[in-house]
Amino acid sequence: MEVKVFGDGIKNLKELLEEKGASPYAPCAGRGTCGQCIVKVLSGPCPPSERDKEVLSADEIGQGMRLACRAFPNGDITVAVPEKKNPVICTEFSVNSTHQTDHSVSSQADKSASGLRVGIDLGTTTIVLTTLGSDGTAGETRAFLNPLSVYGSDVVSRLESAAGGKLHEMKDLLRRKIEDELRILIGTTVFNGKKTMEDCTSGIRDTSTSSDEKIRSNPERKAQIAPAVDSVMTHVSRIALAGNTVMTHIFMGWDVSGLGKYPFKPYSLDAAQTELLGIPVTVFPGISAFVGSDIVAGIYGLDLINGRVGDMLMDLGTNGEMVLMTEKGLIASSASAGPALEGAHISCGTGCVEGAVTGITLENLRPVLTVAGARSFRPTDNTANNSANDSPSGTPGLSDTSVHPSGTAGSSGTSAHPSGTAGLSGTSVHPSGNKGLSGTSVHPSGNKGLAGACGSAILELVDELLRTGILSSDGTFSKNYADEGFAFGTDRNGRVLALTQADVREIQLAKGAVSTAALMLCEKGCTDPKDLHISLAGGMGSGLRPERIRRTGLIPAVSEVRAVGNSVLCGLMRFFRDSSDPASTSSALRALSDIAGSVTVYDLALDDKFQKKFLDSLDFIQE
Ligand code: FES
Repeated sequence: MEVKVFGDGIKNLKELLEEKGASPYAPCAGRGTCGQCIVKVLSGPCPPSERDKEVLSADEIGQGMRLACRAFPNGDITVAVPEKKNPVICTEFSVNSTHQTDHSVSSQADKSASGLRVGIDLGTTTIVLTTLGSDGTAGETRAFLNPLSVYGSDVVSRLESAAGGKLHEMKDLLRRKIEDELRILIGTTVFNGKKTMEDCTSGIRDTSTSSDEKIRSNPERKAQIAPAVDSVMTHVSRIALAGNTVMTHIFMGWDVSGLGKYPFKPYSLDAAQTELLGIPVTVFPGISAFVGSDIVAGIYGLDLINGRVGDMLMDLGTNGEMVLMTEKGLIASSASAGPALEGAHISCGTGCVEGAVTGITLENLRPVLTVAGARSFRPTDNTANNSANDSPSGTPGLSDTSVHPSGTAGSSGTSAHPSGTAGLSGTSVHPSGNKGLSGTSVHPSGNKGLAGACGSAILELVDELLRTGILSSDGTFSKNYADEGFAFGTDRNGRVLALTQADVREIQLAKGAVSTAALMLCEKGCTDPKDLHISLAGGMGSGLRPERIRRTGLIPAVSEVRAVGNSVLCGLMRFFRDSSDPASTSSALRALSDIAGSVTVYDLALDDKFQKKFLDSLDFIQE
């Protein structure tokens, strides 16, 4: 998209673009750390910043590339802003419990329920809406990016904004977006026909894929169609919502000041009632500041409360939250993996959007990519010039790194929900046509360019680099790759996508935090990690292929790992099925509150063994 702005030399380009409704992708909310808000200045005065010189090549700067949050144009300029890609989000879920008994369907209750019910999985990165029909079956699903990303991709940035006076602005933005998406979802479900849907929601449909700015820019059209659109909402009887504690606080407009500092006290963890478009909404209860109602939904959906000792729910879609069934009941913990597992703060990384690489294997050192939403390509030329070299570069390790287990991992000190790798139904793409990128890469031609690599692909590549000896177990690249990293393709702008030494360090921090939390939870629960039965949930969890990332050590080597998809939706749907009338609703709500109240939270931040164990866990596995 081309946008014209006038710069006064004081406002940065990101702010100017936001005013025009053309926000660039900005995971660090303008802190200058993520290096991802790249736009192209087509004309006008906009000198490169110091940060540009660190992040971009001289070539790229010469072509007009700038980090929008670090550019201060002076005068009229025209900018090309990359299109935001649709997220590929995990909306699937299994209704089997962790212990393989079918707990799930109260079919009698379903039959007496009237109207559609809608479950909302309120994630930090993505939001998923799913309907449950009166026959008890899950129906339409709508998934979209959380509009609060303009306040940063991680919960810490958003907490800062909310605590800094923007809470109600954020609540309004979030609710407005959910309401607009609800209208479309329900219109589609009720009319089950495109024409009627377009008649009802054309104004909103136009705006739904990109930003709320467009909706606001056409208030007349919105007012004109609102009655027709809202009439479809009478088909909805109830809504239930679950999310992490920060997101549910913002959604409710609750004071978040206690969440950002010790002792991390939420305003409320109780189940709550509110409304959207006049429809009653039940917000699930939470467990702690770091273990939210999304985990309660997962426990309920998978019936973990009645599970076996050793059953573990691991939700890598967000903050590395995990719950373990022990002899004494459920214990839960949370470890911030930082943003690396969702592709942020990784030079070649991206969320799981169309065109993102979701899996990488090496065939004779040639990268074979799986790309989300890609067409199938056959290899036409496999003359790439990858070659392994075993000499370690001597890049320093991470022995002096420190991390807070529940919210500050990653070198940037941020906490994020790595949910960017969901629903990996992508198509295998063979690289063809070598472009000779630093002598180490192939260029996947036939594609219009890659969006980047999401967390699952980055982990798979690390595993492959360990297998081939290009990375050593301490995460150091061998000599030939030490400077440029390992390249696996190019993006839409022709930039080389390579996993660098700095990226590997970020991954080490992330996997160290998650694996340490899992192992310490086992220790606390007197469970041998080998006896774990892990249910991997969430976008990141569903996208991972455990056998392809074994060497990274992210997931303990255990007897059983299975992907259960979106466990939050599973819990929301079970709630509806269990609560068709006031009496059963009270009982289902009591069950949720009992779960929330029964889980013991193990706060790793208060355990002084964490730091040492974390440092000990940074190495990879190399056989
Ligand atoms: S938003 Fe500009 S560097 Fe992150």
